[in-house]
Amino acid sequence: MGAEDTSRNRRALTHRAGYALRHPRRVPAHARRALRDGWLRLRHPGHIAYYRAVMASDAARSTEAAVGHSPSREQWARIGLMQFDYLLRHGLRPHHRLLEIGCGNLRAGRHFIGHLEPGHYYGIDISPHILLAAQETLVRDGLQTKLPYLALADDLTLGFLPDGHFDVVHAHSVFSHSPRHVIEECFAHVGRVLAPGGFFDFTFDRTEGEEHQVLHEDFYYRTETLVELAAGHGLTARFMDDWEELPHRQSKLRLTAMSDRARTVGP
Ligand SMILES: C[S@@+](CC[C@H](N)C(=O)[O-])C[C@H]1O[C@@H](n2cnc3c(N)ncnc32)[C@H](O)[C@@H]1O
Repeated sequence: MGAEDTSRNRRALTHRAGYALRHPRRVPAHARRALRDGWLRLRHPGHIAYYRAVMASDAARSTEAAVGHSPSREQWARIGLMQFDYLLRHGLRPHHRLLEIGCGNLRAGRHFIGHLEPGHYYGIDISPHILLAAQETLVRDGLQTKLPYLALADDLTLGFLPDGHFDVVHAHSVFSHSPRHVIEECFAHVGRVLAPGGFFDFTFDRTEGEEHQVLHEDFYYRTETLVELAAGHGLTARFMDDWEELPHRQSKLRLTAMSDRARTVGP
């Protein structure tokens, strides 16, 4: 399935007018988001502080909706399991060490934590509200003995993490909310924390038309842009075709160190 109509520019006036005509009931909600966007941008000019405030505002209503745009618990559970099953099929074993960037309230993290050996899961997020919700998920799922690490991050330099440590780095629905400079910062540093043979999987909102953003919340990139950006930091990108078959509107890229021949983690 993957991204559906990848050529449209959601920022274009024609698209917005057509969308409003087709979905008149969604107009007030979008207008409220646009107002919030303007207000939060004024108060928080930097992207991380701005997006942290967006998450605080969304999480005040529902943490499930904050991480997934959908208030349904079933949808939350389904998307989490989809991420886990995918990595399981791609060789994730209990002894591996996994870093989840933008772990949210552990929609997928709870499955990774349950599967991995104690202390092998490390989740980071920019939102303290979401990390508190993540702790609630740990308690609800009885995962305390797995001793996962959950850390607040202010950027993606990953400076507090050790060299060559993680077999898998995973970021789902994070770069779909990130401007280019945030993604580039991540690419500049993620190679250092990857173990030999490790990989970094992330999803993104793909466009085959003009790159664009909706408010300061949703960002649409061409695959080539991200592939070139990664290459500039010594990372080889592979488009994950099998992810496109799943019922999810984002696409997935896998990055490995160029110096690394192995494409997947070993058993
Ligand atoms: C749409 S939610 C997805 C959460 C989780 N990955 C999942 O699939 O359930 C995006 C999460 O990424 C976090 N986030 C956004 N930008 C980030 C960044 N630059 N660094 C770390 N976390 C970030 C947000 O706070 C939020 O919890």
